[in-house]
Amino acid sequence: MTDATPAIRIRHLTKIFRTPTVRKQFVTAVQDLSLDVAAGQIYGLIGPNGSGKSTTMKVLLGLLKPSSGTAAIFGRDSSRVDSRNDVGFLPENPYFYKHLTGAETLAFYGNLCGLRGADLRDRISEMLALVDLEHARDRRLAGYSKGMLQRIGLAQALIHRPRLVVLDEPTAGVDPAGSRKIRDLILDLKSRGISVILSSHLLEQVQEVCDRVGIIFRGRMVREGPLHDLIAVEDQTEVVLHHATPALLTRIRELVAAEPPANTTRPAIVRIGQPRTTLESLFLEATRGEAPRDGLQGDP
Ligand SMILES: Nc1ncnc2c1ncn2[C@@H]1O[C@H](COP(=O)(O)OP(=O)(O)O)[C@@H](O)[C@H]1O
Ligand SMILES: [Mg+2]
Repeated sequence: MTDATPAIRIRHLTKIFRTPTVRKQFVTAVQDLSLDVAAGQIYGLIGPNGSGKSTTMKVLLGLLKPSSGTAAIFGRDSSRVDSRNDVGFLPENPYFYKHLTGAETLAFYGNLCGLRGADLRDRISEMLALVDLEHARDRRLAGYSKGMLQRIGLAQALIHRPRLVVLDEPTAGVDPAGSRKIRDLILDLKSRGISVILSSHLLEQVQEVCDRVGIIFRGRMVREGPLHDLIAVEDQTEVVLHHATPALLTRIRELVAAEPPANTTRPAIVRIGQPRTTLESLFLEATRGEAPRDGLQGDP
């Protein structure tokens, strides 16, 4: 294995669920989906509810068998048990024992991963510090906020030093301050060389942390690529000014208007105003006019 081995490689993944109804019915949750996450990258999978994000992650983790196509973690197929040594998982709505304290929860998961004794104790302290829960280490999870629960979930996912973490909606139901904390944690993971794939519908947050983005809609990848390429508008140049006065803007307008045309095109100002979130516009355009899907489809 070399450094060029991607953390994740998914090729032509299709997952069809057969539903136990009287009539034979199928749900195509994911259809012909491919993506790569390079080692050390943060990848954001975004899409409306029911678009196949969780299903894709579960196949990647070997929790579901693909109907066709493949998924691999650091070059090992997801059907292999040893592919899971390198990955930590924070599920959507994780379930924890509410009567355990934060430290006990981490001890439980650390034990499952084979950590014992001083090694386990050190690792628990290190993880509690990382997710900023040292103050709550001896408090029961029943008293934790949603943001604290997500952070203990993140610590759980990291306890065995994985090289890849899979985060399914890590900030769902978490307030903005708590979300910011989780965002900073994700950036911290990146600085340690850990690869991350996360799903979210919080587009601004995805835009702030992700290197690469896939927009998934009705099980299909509808846009995919490096964040900067996806949200770049061709033939446009952005100039962002600090403390521009109305007089300066007037002079800029005059300067542009006086510029002679080059060939058949001439420069023009598209917009003067405050910078906006552009990933959100891209997302809305890619999924325009469609209600979220949660019903059944016919035979595939
Ligand atoms: N175990 C299952 N059995 C039948 N249908 C399922 C199952 N899991 C997910 N689905 C369906 O697959 C589609 C994708 O679901 P999911 O991957 O959970 O989407 P997301 O995570 O993007 O909200 C949905 O239509 C959902 O109802
Ligand atoms: Mg989901």
